[in-house]
Amino acid sequence: MIAHIKNIVKNAELRGYAIGAFNIHGLESVLGVARGAVKAQSPAIIQVSEGAVEYIGLQNLAYLVSVVAESTAKAVPIALHLDHGKNFDMVIACINAGFSSVHIDGSHLSLQENIELTKKVVSYAHKKKVWVQGEIGAIIGGHGSAGGVLKGIPIADADEVIQFVNETKVDTIAAAIGTAHGVYKNEDIIIPLLRKIKKETGKTFVLHGGSGVDDAKIKQAIRSGVNIINIGSDIKFAFSNTLKQTCKNNKKETDPRKLLGPSIDAIEKVVIEKMRLFGSFKKA
Ligand code: G3H
Ligand code: ZN
Repeated sequence: MIAHIKNIVKNAELRGYAIGAFNIHGLESVLGVARGAVKAQSPAIIQVSEGAVEYIGLQNLAYLVSVVAESTAKAVPIALHLDHGKNFDMVIACINAGFSSVHIDGSHLSLQENIELTKKVVSYAHKKKVWVQGEIGAIIGGHGSAGGVLKGIPIADADEVIQFVNETKVDTIAAAIGTAHGVYKNEDIIIPLLRKIKKETGKTFVLHGGSGVDDAKIKQAIRSGVNIINIGSDIKFAFSNTLKQTCKNNKKETDPRKLLGPSIDAIEKVVIEKMRLFGSFKKA
């Protein structure tokens, strides 16, 4: 069923687990996440990038997710969130389309400009009871990239994060603490920094760049205050690698359902594995 993100997160904070926020790109990935959540009996966040909104169309997307949430995923709570919103008008449009949470990503701006932009979104969103995620200390890399070592992963300054949260009044906070978008050998989570941010702000911490991070580190991060974990690349890999293999093995097949079906199953499998790892399994 469609749910407000705050209700999903409140339970996760009370019971000490994290919710997977899965990036989707179309019907197949929405179905994969929904079926995975039902099988795992877990809450989930379905999130979209600005690119995915442009690809699917905002109204199509909002209806698609709410219809799937109320049919396929009737038994579990699903929240809809905008991920890495950089365009103010797009963020406002998502709020008006019924998203219960939006991410305004001003991490590429100066601290003061980021605070001003985020405050503008918070002031609009809170009137509509929509949650806002802010970001500070940019999370670099590329969704769907893999391999090697990523040079220069930025690390946020704890005092700046605390100032940012206090001044903007965001509901959830994303900060650069050692992970990157994509899968790289040198991804890490700086646990003392995470603990300090959590202790001083008390805000729901969102871990970006969840693909490619060691399982033991993820568990330690959840124990240290992470309650939302973004998974993008692992969903892309499951979809694309399976689709490529299916096409290779079935060169004469023309039925899209036969070509795409295995990719839905592959996404479902990844989602269930993540829900076990994050501790949200059977917490719906
Ligand atoms: O915003 C999306 C995420 O942070 C995804 O990161 O591609 O490393 O899973 P990932
Ligand atoms: Zn991210």
